[in-house]
Amino acid sequence: MRRRTAIGAAGALALAGTRAFAQQAIVVKFSHVVTNDTPKGKGALKFKELAEKYTGGKVKVEVYPNSTLYKDKEEMDALNSGAVQLLAPSTAKFRPIGVPEFEAMDLPYIFDGDAGYEKTVKGPIGKSLMKKLEPKGITGLAFWDNGFHMVSANTPLLMPADFQGLKIRISGSKVADLYFRALGALPQIMAFSEVYQALQTGVVDGCENTPSNYYTQKFFEVQKHITVSSHAHLQYAVIANSKFWNGLPPDIRAQLDKAMDEATDYTNSIANKENVDALAEIKASGKAELHYLTPEQKKAWQAAMAPTYQWAKGRVGSEVLDVLSRATKV
Ligand code: LMR
Repeated sequence: MRRRTAIGAAGALALAGTRAFAQQAIVVKFSHVVTNDTPKGKGALKFKELAEKYTGGKVKVEVYPNSTLYKDKEEMDALNSGAVQLLAPSTAKFRPIGVPEFEAMDLPYIFDGDAGYEKTVKGPIGKSLMKKLEPKGITGLAFWDNGFHMVSANTPLLMPADFQGLKIRISGSKVADLYFRALGALPQIMAFSEVYQALQTGVVDGCENTPSNYYTQKFFEVQKHITVSSHAHLQYAVIANSKFWNGLPPDIRAQLDKAMDEATDYTNSIANKENVDALAEIKASGKAELHYLTPEQKKAWQAAMAPTYQWAKGRVGSEVLDVLSRATKV
């Protein structure tokens, strides 16, 4: 009798637990490394707003911006282990995942302006790149835009020779490593959260990034010269842990897909203006001098960086490169 009571009590407890679980919101942790006040930061908050609205609160999205939860490499490990469910790393950080095709998107001058970039990621090549993540247990949900890179140092960077011997922080891309080496610089991989201090203390001489990142991380306060070179593009792939994503109830997943589609449209619609505004703020601060390349200078950069394409052919295959180069033509 005593035993039966004990089992009954345990059963009741388990049932109550299940009910409590059923009522509990599904928590989606979304970690990233930039501030809330950037295209990606705003996009993550928009996704949270829409996901919670469309699921009627069944999903709770916790956004952790500005490396507050994880730094660059740690966040990839955290997605893999299931400690977070969503990330939006730049494609430059996909090297450890082992999908080299993503690196082609970091090639210098690969996209034909903003329109060429947009056309590319919205086209079949964008989808086929995302498909390559599946065997890695990662589901690619969307590409988020953050415009073209600038590059900076405490000396003006106008011709390839100006890069000679400078230590330049890069975020992880093998392609960026190669194009900076081709210019004579010494690239160093470093987590985004460490860049400001490294620039301030002279651990590195310079870096590349988009205006919104320069502005919100205050890089412009510790760099005297910024070249608005648009030499490469910064894009993010929003990715989920596949086990988590595929394990969601179908109705919830459909609502999250809808929230992601709309958050993507929103992010991509504000990216350009966010960067234009950030550049205007940097200029107005008077703290860094902005430089724009003449057509001759741009040609010299392109020629110096061209060997990167040879390398990329061997790494990602000429087929992907050809498709990418054709897809971007507007
Ligand atoms: C960087 O590390 O330079 C950027 O990728 C940061 C970001 O997410 O925009």
